[in-house]
Amino acid sequence: MKIFSGIQPTGAKHLGNYSGGFRQYAATQDQGTAFFCIVDLHSITVAHDPEDLRERTLDLAALMFATGLDPERSTVFVQSHVTAHAEAAWLLGCVASYGELQRMTQFKDKAGKQTSVSAGLFIYPVLMVGDILLYQTDIVPIGDDQRQHLELTRDVAERFNSRFGETFTVPKGVYPEAGARIMDLQQPENKMSTTGGNPQGTIYLLDPPEVVRKKLKTAVTDSGREIVHDSNEKAGISNLIEVMTVATGETIAEVEKRYVGAGYGQFKSDVGDALVELLEPIQARFRALRDDSAELERMLAIGAAKAREVSAPTLEKMYDRMGFTRPKGV
Ligand code: TYM
Repeated sequence: MKIFSGIQPTGAKHLGNYSGGFRQYAATQDQGTAFFCIVDLHSITVAHDPEDLRERTLDLAALMFATGLDPERSTVFVQSHVTAHAEAAWLLGCVASYGELQRMTQFKDKAGKQTSVSAGLFIYPVLMVGDILLYQTDIVPIGDDQRQHLELTRDVAERFNSRFGETFTVPKGVYPEAGARIMDLQQPENKMSTTGGNPQGTIYLLDPPEVVRKKLKTAVTDSGREIVHDSNEKAGISNLIEVMTVATGETIAEVEKRYVGAGYGQFKSDVGDALVELLEPIQARFRALRDDSAELERMLAIGAAKAREVSAPTLEKMYDRMGFTRPKGV
């Protein structure tokens, strides 16, 4: 079984990324051959600061190992180190249609917030399609916000296979049972996010304990006083229940049972404590790893070499099936 997922280096990583991303990466790496990609090419689709991109790339590598990726088992690499990704994006951009890219809700959301929208932001989903298909991926651990991109990946894979002959495995998305869409603590109708979010409603993975506790204490709740999960009627409390499941590994039912008869205040304070317990060891590991940039760069170079080797045959097959001549040895 092949596992692949990607995460953008820019922007401070938050609890939503942990829930849909990091913790699922660590959990799936045992199921087969796993590739986790720091998608720096995706990060330049909106305005960015070059120096920041460099720093954030190493930050993210450290965070991936700090949250449980084992370099012995998983291939962790940077997208731009493996040129096959950019090449695949061009080839697949000629298979995906303009109409289907126009329907991508993330594009519409993000484009609506910019004064100048890059062409790269529009074709971004095709880059992601290539990331996944290059590794003959079976499963893609992601959060709910990537569902539409994954469906596009499946559609493009099937279209390529039927037009040019069997080339790609058609991948499946893997979503957490609870916590597939962590919401903003201040605006529980919006997802917790790097860009659009409210910093007071966003738990950053590197937030100090007192900041985490404070954000939980001031989290918006709903009328009523029962701690039960009901996303329509009780968006705030339902989200906090899911946050608790992410922190402790319990199910929604187990959390509800533990808090029968308890008040919102106690519950919010307990969620804060549980998060601090989750985050403190991650932060300590992060600091130790981040202190040694040379070692991180070495690990990423090993990852890139492995990713190049594994993706190359699929890229060759794509060129071949599409009818390209290839340079022969001289
Ligand atoms: P990115 O970098 O925005 O997010 C990384 C992961 O975090 C998940 N996530 C969430 N999960 C639950 N609740 C939330 N509020 C929340 N916010 C973010 C995302 O679903 C994702 O799993 N396009 C992708 C990166 C990418 C990729 C890929 C992913 C590029 N190529 C190939 C998988 C496979 C993105 O921008 O994720």
